[in-house]
Amino acid sequence: MQIVHSFQELRSARSQMSGTVGLVPTMGFLHEGHLSLVRAARAACDHVAVSIFVNPTQFGPKEDLANYPRDLDHDAALLEKAGVDLVWNPTPEEMYPQNYQTWVSVEDLTRPLEGGYRPGHFRGVTTVVAKLFNAVQPHKAFFGQKDAQQAAVIRQMVRDLSYPIEIVVCPIQREADGLAMSSRNTYLSPQERRAALVLSRSLFKARDAYTAGSRDAAALRQLVLDSLAQEPLANVQYVSCADFETLQEVDTLQHPALLSMAVYVGKTRLIDNVILG
Ligand code: PAF
Repeated sequence: MQIVHSFQELRSARSQMSGTVGLVPTMGFLHEGHLSLVRAARAACDHVAVSIFVNPTQFGPKEDLANYPRDLDHDAALLEKAGVDLVWNPTPEEMYPQNYQTWVSVEDLTRPLEGGYRPGHFRGVTTVVAKLFNAVQPHKAFFGQKDAQQAAVIRQMVRDLSYPIEIVVCPIQREADGLAMSSRNTYLSPQERRAALVLSRSLFKARDAYTAGSRDAAALRQLVLDSLAQEPLANVQYVSCADFETLQEVDTLQHPALLSMAVYVGKTRLIDNVILG
């Protein structure tokens, strides 16, 4: 496994690869969720490249950029074991040189849900992912369903900018007790970690109601809100039941829907979702 840092080294390593290349973009501090993306890439492509870059432009001024967990040596050991060919760990200075002023921005899809609470977040994501795509030129790129809106926004960007890249979205990986895996789970105290189970528990209750025939979006949102309200450490930012394609709120579930939420547990902001239908 080769680890490179600069664009020049990346391009030279990429030029040695023949056959198909799968890219797994990450911000590091890897967990089983990332490794499931690597395994999917391994199974689908001749070569696997993983980028590790804590992208400053997708963090708001009051967000956790400075404290975001990092452990490159541990990440590299996991990726080596997982059979990755190339790790790209660029520096912020190389990704965003002085006087940087070019941005990629997806419009309507970035306005609801996360976009409403994290202004500028998706502009940072799409800009960095476009730069990763331009440099690596993968055939396929792998993202997690946990960041459901991010996956939808990146699909839109790929369509709109005619990237010849297939976007593969892999299912959420959960701990045995249901908590969706996230690098940010490391911020949780033991008490908060227990409280955080309320997210998946609430979503699963609503999914059960959907399976039993409930199609009223307001009732499903309320069921989730009532369940979240039972946990004193949970502070709800939003609960949404939206069309899976457009991410606009729906009244009745006739097409696949995304039931999603952002909830603070203590100071940690967690997101989770289930697909209905
Ligand atoms: O999902 C993430 O870890 C990041 O948003 C991504 C796609 C690597 C872009 O920085």
